[in-house]
Amino acid sequence: MSHWTPIARLEDIPRQGARVVASPQGKVAVFRTVDDRVFALLDRCPHKGGPLSEGIVHGARVACPLHNWVIELDSGQAVAPDEGCVRRFDVRLEDGMVAIALAGGPTGR
Ligand code: FES
Repeated sequence: MSHWTPIARLEDIPRQGARVVASPQGKVAVFRTVDDRVFALLDRCPHKGGPLSEGIVHGARVACPLHNWVIELDSGQAVAPDEGCVRRFDVRLEDGMVAIALAGGPTGR
């Protein structure tokens, strides 16, 4: 079961950037695109664990700041020729507030 956790107002997340949220499942990077879509991924690049939250968002993708792998924000998949996948979380935007779905509720169970 998922638990919706409000994490920030949309305007508190920089456009083409991200905000990091601690969760029982690890740090989650919540991204905002230039056209105000929001996505959430574990803040760990599938290559060598780089902080995706510090990457630049372009379109619906983020480039890892360490070795420039490009990750699809909606699926967490690395763009070919790289291969890998990072965990994604459901996100919703309601009345300007961004919430993410954390599996098992706030305790992580
Ligand atoms: S750790 Fe992200 S590209 Fe290497």
